[in-house]
Amino acid sequence: MNPKIAYLKKLKELAHLGGGQQRIDKQHLKKKLTARERVAYLLDEGSFEEMGMLVTHRNTDFGTEKELYYGDGVVTGYGTINNRLVYVYAQDFTVFGGSLSETHAEKICKVMDHALKVGAPIIGLNDSGGARIQEGVKSLGGYADIFYRNVQASGVIPQLSAIMGPCAGGAVYSPAMTDFTLMVKGSSYMFVTGPSVVKTVTNEEVSAEELGGASTHASKSGVTHITADNDIACLEDLKKLLSYLPQNNEEKSAALPFVLGEEIREELESILPENRNKPYDMHQVISGIIDLNSFFEIHKDYAPNLLVGFARLAGKSIGIIANQPKHLAGCLDVNSSKKGARFTRFCDSFNIPLLVLVDVPGFLPGTDQEWNGIITNGAKLLYALSEATVPRITVITRKAYGGAYDVMNSKHIGADLNLAWPTAEIAVMGAKGASEIIFKKEIAAAEDADLVLSKMEAEYAAKFANPYTAAQRGFIDEVILPKTTRRKLIKAYAMLEGKRVQQPKRKHGNIPL
Ligand code: HXC
Repeated sequence: MNPKIAYLKKLKELAHLGGGQQRIDKQHLKKKLTARERVAYLLDEGSFEEMGMLVTHRNTDFGTEKELYYGDGVVTGYGTINNRLVYVYAQDFTVFGGSLSETHAEKICKVMDHALKVGAPIIGLNDSGGARIQEGVKSLGGYADIFYRNVQASGVIPQLSAIMGPCAGGAVYSPAMTDFTLMVKGSSYMFVTGPSVVKTVTNEEVSAEELGGASTHASKSGVTHITADNDIACLEDLKKLLSYLPQNNEEKSAALPFVLGEEIREELESILPENRNKPYDMHQVISGIIDLNSFFEIHKDYAPNLLVGFARLAGKSIGIIANQPKHLAGCLDVNSSKKGARFTRFCDSFNIPLLVLVDVPGFLPGTDQEWNGIITNGAKLLYALSEATVPRITVITRKAYGGAYDVMNSKHIGADLNLAWPTAEIAVMGAKGASEIIFKKEIAAAEDADLVLSKMEAEYAAKFANPYTAAQRGFIDEVILPKTTRRKLIKAYAMLEGKRVQQPKRKHGNIPL
């Protein structure tokens, strides 16, 4: 063999070994795939083209000049997922714990720049101990270069982050600025400072799992949108998520083939309990509307009183935001408002039409909510929906009370089509609460206060616990039979396909962050 060709082969072999076989074995022992195995699984077979395989770091401090690894702890390049171009970077924990050096950052920036130039999604597979400690400020600069690009790419190309190992310090901030963060249960962590620093500073004893494991971030902080049981499941989730998204903000998501049939779903007529105060599972309503098994839920364990996720309707991608009466009666609170707002803005950035399903008794009252800023946070959802220019349709299944009626994609904030089931109740508040206020004097003067209250309550309910007053005013475009909801929506989204919106000239709005 020509020695020059043999030399190149040798270099490539070395690059494939990352930090060495021992460290690869250690990675496998932790039930983690290596960076290269992850990339190979994620992308279509044979589609990966690597960029920067022979990059090495330039540091000379703390003996690092003797530790040179080809690729410098990150595998970068492009390939396809289901024949769609994507750019990818995968941090290699076997090289300095996947920590970020100046050159490691340059490699990531290069693929980000490419992705933005070409208009293709960027996927980061993160497994990194944060800033390469031996490099100091050079590493911090590298992080900032990435953060800056995250912001430039925001709303232009989808940015997806999978956390597939312990990610500390700077390693968590880039994912936080991308569109979706996925975590692997049991083997991935995200924290700005780990348990030992926490102990030193606050004297708090906390495990890595409790501080920043997948379930913590899925349920408590909402930092992660999706959790997976292992690396393979996480990579599968990435592929599935991507299937709902377009390549960039100038395109629409690819539609699956679909032939229109009757599209009547009888099961939608028997989901709501007769008692209007009894809960039901809004997932059933969603399933009754969308294409079979197409709901891909986001933030499943965070603020479960509001459901958000992608689905397909007649083969096309839509984003769903729905009150969930099974949790907190479907009230809006701080966390659900943030969750809904973020999802709305993603869909609006990437031309994904919105469907809002409403059964909301109002905002959750209490000091906890007020002190945590339900005013500002609730306003986020109101703002996000008001500014969204994608096709927006609302279906009110039951309650639409008070300010939450306005917020949940009402006609007044620019929804394109507002439908209601005959079970809808559109009012300032529930009949009991309303009667207690407006008939206070009558109730106080009555011999049998309960009897008077229930009479007034029935009167109020008869007048307002229905969709017809709103329909008379045109706030509701049509009161529909539940079984026809899917058919109506398919036709309505087709009607709205060409929606165009002129917006006032401004630099950007000022969403109440
Ligand atoms: C250089 C690092 C490193 C780092 C880990 N390694 N983190 N090298 N810089 N940041 C190396 C280790 O020396 C070790 O090398 C190998 O990676 C594996 O690390 P272990 O500790 O053996 O692995 P594990 O027990 O799994 O623990 C992983 C870990 C831990 C939780 C990530 O290594 C850790 O706490 N690292 C430091 C995290 C940190 O504080 N980072 C800096 C954050 S500051 P060998 O040779 O043994 O394989 C920061 C500022 C940016 O990021 C802020 C921007 C906003």
